[in-house]
Amino acid sequence: MAKNSKSRSIVVLHGPNLNLLGTREPSVYGRESLESINRRLTATARAAGVRLECFQSNHEGELVDRIQRAKKEGAGFLILNPAGYTHTSVVIRDALTAVRIPFVEVHLSNIFAREPWRHHSHFTAVAVGAILGLGSSGYDLALAYALKHLKA
Ligand code: DQA
Repeated sequence: MAKNSKSRSIVVLHGPNLNLLGTREPSVYGRESLESINRRLTATARAAGVRLECFQSNHEGELVDRIQRAKKEGAGFLILNPAGYTHTSVVIRDALTAVRIPFVEVHLSNIFAREPWRHHSHFTAVAVGAILGLGSSGYDLALAYALKHLKA
């Protein structure tokens, strides 16, 4: 059965400090800016006939609000890099389990190859899957999966 237009939309959520991509620790996070990543993801989704919106916030509650709004909008899939909140945020995880929108967790760096306190994620256990250590390509791979999921 054809999906309605609302469920054919994707929201990409970027957590704190990801607005600094390109200049923030480039040896860890790469040289591509967030704007460039977002532009590419939006174009890829548009070419596939899917609406994609990107949202970045340095504030936990704003990310919770955006997840709740995604539910009201009928979004069909989320792509999430919780950034530092990966390791701390019960409330963002609770928002995700409340709205029950499937999501892929993305990290530019391999969090398991870094400090021990980065090894735990509050999100992986409730995600469809996780992509890490592949730099900004991780977002493209997550989007490829999301598009396949929405078309299934
Ligand atoms: C990150 C990894 C986190 O540990 C870190 O706090 C970030 C970015 C990543 O994409 O590799 O801000 O999520």
